[in-house]
Amino acid sequence: PAPVDYQAEDCTVSQGAVEANHAGYTGTGFVNGDNVAGAYVECAVTVAAAGQRTLTVRFANGTTSARPMAVTVNGAAPVTVSFPPTANWDTWATAELTATLAAGANTVRLTATTANGGPNVDYLNV
Ligand code: GCU
Ligand code: CA
Ligand code: CA
Repeated sequence: PAPVDYQAEDCTVSQGAVEANHAGYTGTGFVNGDNVAGAYVECAVTVAAAGQRTLTVRFANGTTSARPMAVTVNGAAPVTVSFPPTANWDTWATAELTATLAAGANTVRLTATTANGGPNVDYLNV
């Protein structure tokens, strides 16, 4: 199946805001999570068949430190993704992880793990 973009701005946001004040995003904006541990964006991801899939996250991190997030699928054990600096907030990069998805709807949550918060998130591609 063709990969699908799940725009972060269309997902559920806890402790954050949808913004569009930095160039280069796709869709209608991006999620700027609050700079706290526990801020998250959660997308409902639907796939036809169960199995391992590559999840690609497009992000910007205009600081000089990584902005790690824990990625959980359907509440399972998290995988931590580091989200390194991207030079400035207008420069976007992608990070990939592998996750096991169920057939049908899945809940994919990206949660900031440090008090610095996560990166700005443009989309999740599955
Ligand atoms: C700046 C930037 C935001 C970003 C924030 C951060 O305020 O404009 O888009 O989310 O830094 O440090 O997380
Ligand atoms: Ca932020
Ligand atoms: Ca977007």
